[in-house]
Amino acid sequence: MTDLATPPPPATAPAKKETKAQKAERLKLAKNPWEAWDEVRQFAREGRAAVLPEWAEFYFKWWGVYGQGYGAGVTGGKDGVGKATEYFMMRIGLPNGLLTSRQLRVIGDLTKKCARNLADITTRQNIQLHWLTIEALPEIVDALTEIGLSPKGACGDVVRNVTGCPLAGLDGHEIIDASPLALQIAHGFTANPEFYNLPRKHKITVSGCPLWCSYPEINDVALTAIKREVNGLEEIGYTLRVGGGLSTEPHLGVRIPAFIPQDKAYAVVEAVLRIFKEQIELRENRTRARIKYLFMRHGWTAETMLEAIEAKLGYKLDPSPVDEDVVPDDVYRDHVGITPQLQPGLSAVGASVLRGRLSGDQLIQLADLAEQFGDGQLRATIMQNIILVNVPNARTRDLIHALGEMGLRVDCTPFWRGAIACTGTEFCKLAIAETKAFSKWLVSEMEDRMPGFDQQIKLHVTGCTNSCGQSWIADIGLEGKKIKKDGAMVDAFYFCVGGAVGKYAAIARQIGYRAAAEDCPEAIERLLRAYLAGRQPGEDLRAYFARHDDESLRAQLAGTALPAVERDPAPVGAGRFAPGE
Ligand code: HEM
Ligand code: SF4
Repeated sequence: MTDLATPPPPATAPAKKETKAQKAERLKLAKNPWEAWDEVRQFAREGRAAVLPEWAEFYFKWWGVYGQGYGAGVTGGKDGVGKATEYFMMRIGLPNGLLTSRQLRVIGDLTKKCARNLADITTRQNIQLHWLTIEALPEIVDALTEIGLSPKGACGDVVRNVTGCPLAGLDGHEIIDASPLALQIAHGFTANPEFYNLPRKHKITVSGCPLWCSYPEINDVALTAIKREVNGLEEIGYTLRVGGGLSTEPHLGVRIPAFIPQDKAYAVVEAVLRIFKEQIELRENRTRARIKYLFMRHGWTAETMLEAIEAKLGYKLDPSPVDEDVVPDDVYRDHVGITPQLQPGLSAVGASVLRGRLSGDQLIQLADLAEQFGDGQLRATIMQNIILVNVPNARTRDLIHALGEMGLRVDCTPFWRGAIACTGTEFCKLAIAETKAFSKWLVSEMEDRMPGFDQQIKLHVTGCTNSCGQSWIADIGLEGKKIKKDGAMVDAFYFCVGGAVGKYAAIARQIGYRAAAEDCPEAIERLLRAYLAGRQPGEDLRAYFARHDDESLRAQLAGTALPAVERDPAPVGAGRFAPGE
């Protein structure tokens, strides 16, 4: 099914060389991949050689599936994209991060059977599997369908997994349980044929949590709960942000000056989605196709976006002054640790999963623990962690012990707690540096070097300029690159410093410093020791970084004054526009 004006052109490429964007638009018009799963079943029957290139490179994404890189990232590939192996990776969407023990056990079994016993919790509350054969894909999708889950919409030019506060409905401090709205949006737009062909991906989050733990600032569309008073009566509704996103050109969401009543929230999200879908000019360049570019390049403002939304709705929204928002303070936003629930006598126990990586056996163990200690409910979080909920207070200590036995920490150092890593060269075709093993090593190095360090720190590692590991909102964001060291090309990282979300929201500054991977712990130690020695009373890392200029932070990292090095441009295909686009 196609939904744009002209009749579908053939899926075959025209004689004239097309741009990436033209090719993507042609393929999307030719087919809605959500309606063509039978083709994949056919490939599975016939074997890997039968998989058509347009599926391997494009259509699979609508089913949460990417080709898996061969372990060296971009190296050895063409046009900034590395070679693919015969294997696939699949992202399973968990709307609002909600998960049951039954679902987790099935995912754990699939991980053991089909994915070499390795699973990653991602920064959009998904679970990503690797090493999948073409034969395994239908089996996995069938097994997921039976438990009410799907990889549909986890990748592709569609509404991605709708995220939300994992403690929705449980945290006594929340303004409202926004998870029903998040689920309504997820079910309304995922696999909806009307929205299978957007200019590019579209990330939505809904949060009723005062911590904004799902990072509304970096979503294309974000609703956060607010309170207002009308005629002496309190009313809860939402604030809308549009146009947040990281990638090669980061941009924090623009707050739209309107109060969104609860019963209008779905319609407002749909209005923004339709506006996005209709922007033909966004379809001309894949790397500038996100809704944020309306603000960044096409002259849109908060006011014009509001007008466009109201035109779609057919009615006006009440104004909402900025000070109606209560922006979260500079506190941990990850729900790691014990959170007393709204329900008397019960707690949520948030365990930090170092860089999100778990084995299938651990997933099954977690399912068992959720049943033994709680009511079988779990939540995946934006910080690549897992929370077991509805645990009787008296049992939390034993649960923490059991989690510790399987390598998951509830009480952990700031380095462990603040570490995030993207997929990296291990499986990603666009990667320049390895990330998952590096970040594990980095955390243990930092724990050894600075055992007493007690400040909140986000230490995000990302394998290339695409910032899937959210390096732009980290206190210290490490972006993968290669440098020559002792005559050999080695993994290295470019430092971005001072990123934050919440009260001090900022995009991390490109500090002009880079180091070989093996030299990063030393550089970070120098910077953090300079902070400890030079901070003002009560000054946290965010404030300290904001108070120092790039040159001085670079000198603190290097241990001496150094000229700035340029950050690498995004490789063609991995963010920068390809020739001709
Ligand atoms: C041009 C290509 C790509 C761009 C521009 C891009 C950009 C991004 C960005 C900005 C995020 C941040 C998530 C957030 O908003 O919080 C993200 C998430 C992510 N990306 Fe990419 N990415 C690209 C390709 C890839 C590839 C090839 C992989 C390989 C596995 C990948 C893996 C991930 C993962 C695992 C996440 C976590 C969030 C999720 O579950 O969706 N990305 N990406
Ligand atoms: S940041 Fe780069 S290396 Fe990491 S997952 Fe994204 S595309 Fe791959």
